[in-house]
Amino acid sequence: MRQPIVAVVVAVALFVAMQSASAAAIADPGLYVAQAADCASCHTSPGGKPFAGGTALKTPFGTIYGSNVTPDGSSGIGEWTESDFDRALRQGLRKDGSYLYPAMPYANYTKMTAEDMHALWLYMRGLAPVHNVVPKNTLPFPLNVRSSLLVWQSLYFKPGEFEVDPRESAQWNRGAYLVEALGHCDQCHTPRNAAQGLRAGRALTGAEIEGWYAPDISGDASSKLREWSAQDLAHFFKTGSMPGNTTAAGPMQEVVHDSLSHMTDADLHAMAIYLKHQVSTSRPLAPSPVKWPRQADAQALYQQQCGACHQSDGKGIAGTVPALAHNDAVTAAEPSNLIMAMLEGFPANGSWGAMGSFAQSLTDEQIADVANYVRTAWGNAAAPNATPWAVSGWRKYAEAPQSGSRALLCPDLSAQVMKPALAAGPTLLKQAASERSKMTQLVHDYQAAVPTASSGEVIEALSTAYCRALADTAISEPRMSAQIADFAQRVATDVRGHKPM
Ligand code: HEC
Ligand code: HEC
Ligand code: HEC
Repeated sequence: MRQPIVAVVVAVALFVAMQSASAAAIADPGLYVAQAADCASCHTSPGGKPFAGGTALKTPFGTIYGSNVTPDGSSGIGEWTESDFDRALRQGLRKDGSYLYPAMPYANYTKMTAEDMHALWLYMRGLAPVHNVVPKNTLPFPLNVRSSLLVWQSLYFKPGEFEVDPRESAQWNRGAYLVEALGHCDQCHTPRNAAQGLRAGRALTGAEIEGWYAPDISGDASSKLREWSAQDLAHFFKTGSMPGNTTAAGPMQEVVHDSLSHMTDADLHAMAIYLKHQVSTSRPLAPSPVKWPRQADAQALYQQQCGACHQSDGKGIAGTVPALAHNDAVTAAEPSNLIMAMLEGFPANGSWGAMGSFAQSLTDEQIADVANYVRTAWGNAAAPNATPWAVSGWRKYAEAPQSGSRALLCPDLSAQVMKPALAAGPTLLKQAASERSKMTQLVHDYQAAVPTASSGEVIEALSTAYCRALADTAISEPRMSAQIADFAQRVATDVRGHKPM
């Protein structure tokens, strides 16, 4: 579940037909919108014709294919009207009225202006029709039923055009529009919960995607963007590199190649201005550079698990155990060395002794915590960017045995919202997943406890409680997700029985 649903497998969707827009004028506004929104990346398969679809997008649940969006009559959108097209992009509905999977980022495109929509439509209309029947999605029940997306949409989709913030400059607003509506940066840079919803309150704070880590680009104190000037950032978007600092790799390299490098300097600068001056709505700015919350526990864990060998000051034992303080392998930009060391351990080697694997004794969360502790203790100045998702990814990669609780994958709601939902207890929650009468009781009890809760809140709280109940069982993550989706669907049915949505 560490991969976002949009996780982009898109092996370089080279879109040869595109020419870079000249710096001065935008020759074709529709093409420009398509580039800024990076439509080609998910709708062009490697080696395939532009926009003819078939692009495999791997999600934790199965594979979803980008549709053929060329104006071909039978296999593409040749029979669509402009309003069908508008509805797909801004409301997430297909021509037949069924729901589109959120792998298509309509949660972002809903913010597009009518003007951009129209220009885009004219451009898409003018593409050469290509006959290409796209393979069927391979999703398990109940996700293969499009109506199951009702719940997702009611929780995570807020339709509506981008709203200009009158307190900010025109440039800031343009940047916000490009980042939020067209660029869909949050689809990769915002962490997700088990229902694949973007985590509220953690916008752009960094997330796992297909084994890559899309770093924190929020306005928070810990974000690296604070160290970059707007100029630097715009240069990075244009060229994919930042001399002496970073080079865009993997999915970000594709974003630069297919999308950002085609945009005007003024637009790139606007995005940079916006990113550097985001309004941090939810989280207070942390005074310390470390924002992961469990530092004290992590230190204790380190002492207990590693201290005997690596010592509490991280200096190791000369000749026998290497130091972790001021060790480049430990403070590398990505925490993977440290994570792999804990998952795999080391056999005795020359004068070094052996180090056992911690794969079974520590959970993903604990390994991430220890890694973050080691990366920031004793003057180590690396970012505490190890996450349980990364650890779970490396676990799979290393084929290391499982351990631990997956409760962390469940949505993070406030204790106040969760208390009445958790009061039901895991047994009742699990029974309610299959017994209608128990579900009715569950919903009734929650609504009695929180009479002001909206239907969406009831669904979210109970599904999250169910998620936590499942986290301790031995089912696989994709199955867990499918069951939560099914559960949420059942809650929705009952809530609607009580009160209108
Ligand atoms: C991150 C990947 C991604 C991006 C970017 C993306 N799409 Fe999609 N799109 C998809 C997927 C996947 C589907 C199919 C979803 C489904 O089967 O429910 C889809 C479906 C569609 C559909 C519905 C087609 C049908 O037959 O129902 C249209 C139209 C569409 N996209 C147009 C666009 C346009 C225009 C853009 C750029 C503004 C765009 N998409 C950007 C992934 C993407
Ligand atoms: C398809 C997924 C994806 C999308 C969409 C995406 N990014 Fe990224 N981004 C990544 C990944 C992965 C990295 C880290 C890869 C690397 O090291 O270059 C990254 C790196 C970055 C960095 C460098 C940060 C650093 O600390 O080194 C910046 C800045 C950035 N992205 C901004 C953006 C903006 C702005 C957008 C929207 C226009 C965006 N990204 C859209 C995946 C994505
Ligand atoms: C029984 C003693 C012992 C314990 C306990 C132990 N280590 Fe180690 N660790 C070693 C030894 C010995 C090596 C060197 C192994 C080698 O290179 O062959 C090592 C190597 C490492 C390395 C690689 C360092 C490098 O320079 O490549 C890391 C990282 C590491 N340990 C982290 C940890 C962490 C974190 C813990 C606690 C979860 C831990 N170790 C617990 C003995 C231990």
